[in-house]
Amino acid sequence: MDINLIQTQVENDLNTVSSASELESVRVKYLGRKGVLAELTGLIGTLPAEERGLFGKQVNSLKNKLLEFFQEKEKTLKTQGGTVDKNRQDIGLPGIAQELGSSHPIIQVIDEICGIFNRMGFSIVEGPEIETEYNNFTGLNIPLDHPSRDAFDTFYLKNYPKLLLRSHTSPVQVRAMKAYKPPLAIVVPGRVYRPDAVDASHLFMFHQIEGVLVDENISFADLKGILGLFIKSVFGEDIKMRFRPHFFPFTEPSAEVDISCIICKGKGCSVCGRKGWLEILGSGMVHPNVFKQVGYKPGKYTGFAFGMGVERIAMLKYGINDIRLFFENDLRFLKQF
Ligand code: PHE
Repeated sequence: MDINLIQTQVENDLNTVSSASELESVRVKYLGRKGVLAELTGLIGTLPAEERGLFGKQVNSLKNKLLEFFQEKEKTLKTQGGTVDKNRQDIGLPGIAQELGSSHPIIQVIDEICGIFNRMGFSIVEGPEIETEYNNFTGLNIPLDHPSRDAFDTFYLKNYPKLLLRSHTSPVQVRAMKAYKPPLAIVVPGRVYRPDAVDASHLFMFHQIEGVLVDENISFADLKGILGLFIKSVFGEDIKMRFRPHFFPFTEPSAEVDISCIICKGKGCSVCGRKGWLEILGSGMVHPNVFKQVGYKPGKYTGFAFGMGVERIAMLKYGINDIRLFFENDLRFLKQF
């Protein structure tokens, strides 16, 4: 029996095959229990000892060839959908769905908040994440011995002692006031960095939104009015707001702003630590020393500034209890927004 002939025969047979069932009958004919290959294998034992080796090898390589042919044919049948016409495509097959992406929940909250201020007339401005020590501290009236300047609280750049990763968005106040004369109204979204140990409410990187408004005759009442509008836009008409006296070197007077707890509506729960209030931002009237640093006439202009943490607001808004969820890139989390 001519082994090469068998190989050509199989090829010819396979060429006429156009369905899975036809393929199966060709397979049985050659590779089946009583097929051609089994017959050849049976012959090996009947041959004289010196011919067995060579013949056995030939049978074996034929077997491998056939297996390859059949595999190949099966593949082409599959891609053709097993139809008779090789060029026909099955237009009924479902297509490959393209997943639609969406913006990150933090970006969504930034867009919402900046949108609210933008509609009140604030421009949206950005600043660099690598800042000078001057803009991050000195220009903001933060004294040389202030603890926030410590390397435990600020990331300094290793080979550039006067540069750091900004620890808040307030340095953009200094940049903007140096670049523009009043009237000035800006909001500044962006990333900030602090060497905090990571836990459910701390990361070494988070986002803030800064706001500054400077003009003639700006008072604390303007700050209160603007922030009141903002808070109602984000959290709803029923939310209450209170100002708590506080200290920031770059504002005087300064206040922290709380909203009534959105979980318990002010009754006291675990989220607000039974206080009924949630701290959401820092604010105050721009300190005259800051005006001096940027070259504004302190007697002529007054203004207010505020700064808030975006993750904290997003967590309150969506009821998220772990800040790390935002940055783990888990689509099961991110797809919910
Ligand atoms: N920069 C302050 C902080 O990060 C927030 C703030 C901004 C306070 C502007 C007052 C005015 O805590």
